[in-house]
Amino acid sequence: MEKTVNYVAVAAVGDLREGFLTEHEVEGRAVVVAATAEGIHVYDAMCPHSDFRFGASRLRLGCEIECQMHGARFKADGTGAVTKGPAKEPLEVLDSRVVDGVVEVLVDWLI
Ligand code: FES
Repeated sequence: MEKTVNYVAVAAVGDLREGFLTEHEVEGRAVVVAATAEGIHVYDAMCPHSDFRFGASRLRLGCEIECQMHGARFKADGTGAVTKGPAKEPLEVLDSRVVDGVVEVLVDWLI
């Protein structure tokens, strides 16, 4: 079955709190939304180190996602870059946008 690539609503911006990570399910995929002072970005919810699923949490220093399993840290600036091991690969950043106060993510994983 082939589906059209499309943006799908994830969360209302008004429901997000700066400095926090929230977890969501979009079209069968677990994602997390990080709200920082610089912006809002969406990531795959699985830690690239060992497939631990991130849950809702406070961002470290308001700008880093920290894995609760082994302590890896990632930039929440839209790059997902590793700032502390043991993870070596960055978080998967999902294409997202904000339209009329709603965070949307590009669903391209059903194709
Ligand atoms: S599973 Fe995240 S750091 Fe190991």
